[in-house]
Amino acid sequence: AQTIALVVAAGSGSRMGGDLPKQYRQLAGKSVLAHAIDHLAAAGVGHIQVVIGPDQEALYHAAVGDHDLPSPILGGALRQHSVRRGLDMLASQGGAGNVLIHDAARPFLPKEVVARLLTALTTSQAAAPVLAIADTLARAGAALGDAVPRDGLVRVQTPQAFHFEAILDAHRRWQSGEATDDAQVARAAGLEVAAVPGDAILEKLTYEEDFVRAEARLATHLT
Ligand code: C5P
Repeated sequence: AQTIALVVAAGSGSRMGGDLPKQYRQLAGKSVLAHAIDHLAAAGVGHIQVVIGPDQEALYHAAVGDHDLPSPILGGALRQHSVRRGLDMLASQGGAGNVLIHDAARPFLPKEVVARLLTALTTSQAAAPVLAIADTLARAGAALGDAVPRDGLVRVQTPQAFHFEAILDAHRRWQSGEATDDAQVARAAGLEVAAVPGDAILEKLTYEEDFVRAEARLATHLT
């Protein structure tokens, strides 16, 4: 089945401060978004559609340079709105077999992860990369030290992979407030989400130190 990547890049990046949303910042002379796009292309995804904020057209064009991509779709105030608008637009253009929904803020993507996700879609309607939690988890604030059992908990990354019609339908039915990823939207619609091994390198850039680490990694050609 044809696979489309939907890359959501409409965030304003407010958690990290600064004026420039993190997906449009440069890493080793290339925007974070362009790194993400290049990795998807290298993994064999031929159709890549980006969703941007309504005021991000100039940032987008500067970030993607001469990449040959379809015009960006305008997203919404929450991540889930950006995904929904992307899916609706793709549906109006005929949809796809599978869709990989990916955060633009994750510049590094091993092609093995994409391969695992697409393999999982041969037997599941949904799949997501997960990583185990090594650190102790605890409640912040006065009760710090009250550990939260980490048994059975994982960190969930993107890209997340879905049968297109299934995740489109799940998003159209979602009514439960903010969703930070699409696996939870899928679950709420009754889909089973297959877990595949994620990768530490897929980490979402969020804090300043994440950028420092990413620059260092690129400087030593480890990606
Ligand atoms: O803010 P956070 O790191 O959770 O955002 C994850 C991804 O979702 C980012 O790539 C961001 O650009 C995107 N996003 C979006 N539309 C929003 C909020 C976030 O496309 N309204």
